[in-house]
Amino acid sequence: MKNLLVKKAVTGFLAASMFCTASVSGFAGVATPELMKAAAEEQKVIYSTDFEDQDVSAFDKRGENDTTVLSASTDYATSGEYSLCASGRTESWNGPAFRLDDKCEPGTEYYVNAKVRGKYYSQITCSYQYSDSSGDPHYVNLTNGSSGDWLEFKNLKVSFSDDVKDVFVYFEGGSDDIYIDDFSVVEAPVIPIEEDIPSLKNVYADYFKVGTATTTMELAPKSTKNLILKHCNSLTLGNELKPDAIIDREATIESGDFDNPLVNLSSARTILNFAKANNIPVRGHVLVWHSQTPDWFFKEEFSDDGEWVSKDTMLKRMENYIKNVFAALEEEYPTVDFYAYDVVNEAWTDQGTPRQPGQQGSSGSEQSAWVKVFGDNSFIDYAFEYARKYAPEGTKLFYNDYNEYMTGKMDAIVDMANRLKEKGLIDGIGMQSHLDVRQGNDAFPSIQMYENALKTYTSLGLDVQITELDATIQNNSEASFKAQADYYSDLFDLYVKYADKISAVVFWGTKDDTSWRSTQYPLFFNGDYTAKPCFYSIVDGIEYVDPPVTEPITTTPAPTTPTKPSLEVVKMGDANCDGETDIADVVIAKCYLINPSAYSITEQGIVNADVAGTQGLDVQDTIAIQKLALKIISESELA
Ligand code: GLA
Repeated sequence: MKNLLVKKAVTGFLAASMFCTASVSGFAGVATPELMKAAAEEQKVIYSTDFEDQDVSAFDKRGENDTTVLSASTDYATSGEYSLCASGRTESWNGPAFRLDDKCEPGTEYYVNAKVRGKYYSQITCSYQYSDSSGDPHYVNLTNGSSGDWLEFKNLKVSFSDDVKDVFVYFEGGSDDIYIDDFSVVEAPVIPIEEDIPSLKNVYADYFKVGTATTTMELAPKSTKNLILKHCNSLTLGNELKPDAIIDREATIESGDFDNPLVNLSSARTILNFAKANNIPVRGHVLVWHSQTPDWFFKEEFSDDGEWVSKDTMLKRMENYIKNVFAALEEEYPTVDFYAYDVVNEAWTDQGTPRQPGQQGSSGSEQSAWVKVFGDNSFIDYAFEYARKYAPEGTKLFYNDYNEYMTGKMDAIVDMANRLKEKGLIDGIGMQSHLDVRQGNDAFPSIQMYENALKTYTSLGLDVQITELDATIQNNSEASFKAQADYYSDLFDLYVKYADKISAVVFWGTKDDTSWRSTQYPLFFNGDYTAKPCFYSIVDGIEYVDPPVTEPITTTPAPTTPTKPSLEVVKMGDANCDGETDIADVVIAKCYLINPSAYSITEQGIVNADVAGTQGLDVQDTIAIQKLALKIISESELA
């Protein structure tokens, strides 16, 4: 058993979240005022129109079957007299679309801004779409709002990688006319990652892999890639290996052999190519799940209205589907290390019973078509049997679930795991770990409850992985960030304590603004790539050695900082020279490091801010200024 290292709990770092504003629903990241100011100053406007020239030609309807008619209209306008009017819409997906990939660069982030309204009270969604390397379209809702008046969609972050095409933002919802005014696409400033903070994968190298899940869109900006390269040695595809992403309905229908579902990795290629190019081991997620699995997979001839197939037919489909997934991965990505694979996800309720039989669409996504066809949870054993039969030797097979600390579910998982282990079919349990810090001391689950689950699973004689870690907070107050930092610190103490049984700790997402729980700030990095207090709480106090760099990593160069001029410190930490050392100094120092040409600090300010004993102003100084501002340390401790 490895020694338990005691980390310093963070006692009150300034939430670096000062850089974060409230996030919107859906995937989009929202730019902060500082970043928007930088973007505005740099004036990298890609496209901007108030429609006063009555030119709507940059917009189009969404394909041939879309009945939308686009025109300049004086019905409504937020500025001047004209707006764009999308009339004649007959389906909610009809609407005006703006092509991005002929005006924007892959790998760069952009902000989309627009004022939108319906003819009457309407709900309008701004979405994003792209086609993958096989031409299959993908859709992501960026944000939405309802109103009988103008809505402002501001600073919606979009980006795409160089292996996708037909990239659009579009407006949809209802079937009334939609109006758009003051539309713009602005290039976002490039924000480098913090290079001089510890690398999570190096900090925990003696204990377990540190990983993240990501999606094709999230991975597009270079800085996100750099963040993953710096901190992670495990990668999970957030959606792109799920059944709905890889089962190829058209190809199977064309083949006419519905017992042999064909698969297609086109959704997954962007991320898998990144993993391959950078030698990052991959956690496969997921083969058998009730959610994100189309109902037609369980129906005669893959038809939406077909009869449900028999258990015998489904067994053939399941075996061939699993076989085809591993064959496709082996064929296209023989050098990628799929070191773990979630064979079955979320099959047990919190009470430890199988899910209700049903289709995905009915009464939410809690029902299971697997149970509908099999009558019970017996499909689990078959799934593991086939996965064992076809998975490459080095791929460990996992059962994965959430609320994994609830007693009923835990008992069911333990029984199932013991049975599968006896048959040599399972290698590990995945604890998703979607947690909730809440306020004060009522985190759910409590650390004791979570440890109980960890103890239970690690005593099964199987591997354990933390597969989807994120811990939400209620708001972006300093108190919440501190509670989150303390909670994460306690969790990582547990992970280290049980490290001989834990092979990976994987976060569900890279940054708060692109997390599926973005409004609750669950991760370790802010939207501007800066580390949050919870990051420091899990690295502080752990001794580690950075391995020698064997090959150069392509990263955006950190801003150069001038060396200390020969001025004397007037007040330690007082970057803005207002005589005080407070939060404003932290903000100005961070902004300066992110973009020195947009945010200048006087020579005296740099001397005042250069407090950490490092050469020149850097991230260590901003941390030290935070501590000074919050009186965690005194000037004499730094001197
Ligand atoms: C579950 C699934 C994941 C993902 C998250 C939410 O935990 O296992 O694949 O869908 O929910 O994003």
